Amino acid sequence: MILRPLEARDTEAVQRIFPQWEVVRWLHAGVPWPYPADGAATNMAQCLAQRARGEKFYWAITLKGGDDTLVGRIDLWPFDGVVRDTRGFWLDPALWGQGLMTEAAEAVTAYAFETLGWPELYLTNAVENLGSGRVKEKQGAELIAVEPRDYVGGNGPSQIWRLTRAAWLARRPA
Ligand SMILES: CC(C)(COP(=O)(O)OP(=O)(O)OC[C@H]1O[C@@H](n2cnc3c(N)ncnc32)[C@H](O)[C@@H]1OP(=O)(O)O)[C@@H](O)C(=O)NCCC(=O)NCCS
Repeated sequence: MILRPLEARDTEAVQRIFPQWEVVRWLHAGVPWPYPADGAATNMAQCLAQRARGEKFYWAITLKGGDDTLVGRIDLWPFDGVVRDTRGFWLDPALWGQGLMTEAAEAVTAYAFETLGWPELYLTNAVENLGSGRVKEKQGAELIAVEPRDYVGGNGPSQIWRLTRAAWLARRPA
């Protein structure tokens, strides 16, 4: 996959792919559901404003050898000292299970630790969201807590993972 900064021209692809139950089910309850016709446009405006203020990073996931169309998104933001959650991601279900999000997560983690020099990331997923949890496991994150969270699909236990810069760098091949 190729990551590039999210752009306003990605709105159409987001509106086409994102509003699917298997995509939103285990996302935070703030995601509107049923998804409105202007949902992607509203969210895009918020994302681009947050990025312009330097608060969050947003990347479009595209396919290597493809036509640069967004097939998913990965987001990164700094730990505020309170909410243990610093990354989000989703992918077109037609592309699940090929290692794409693990590849995207590794690229974004390298950016956080090597370029930005952040000391740690906090990562979360619903316990039932096995694929998302597996991405954290594959990255070498440490499960540190399970606590309730509100999801689009209802309240449920959430795994909280910590991935430290030191641990991640130590796992990298020389
Ligand atoms: C979570 C998500 C991003 C994973 O994307 P992906 O590209 O399929 O992830 P990868 O292929 O890199 O890795 C997924 C891993 O989970 C495993 N997995 C997926 N579903 C699983 C299941 N039901 N049970 C056990 N393992 C599962 C895969 O086998 C793979 O592990 P492996 O490489 O050891 O075989 C994707 O499922 C998604 O977009 N979900 C909807 C949005 C979402 O929930 N986002 C996360 C919110 S915390």
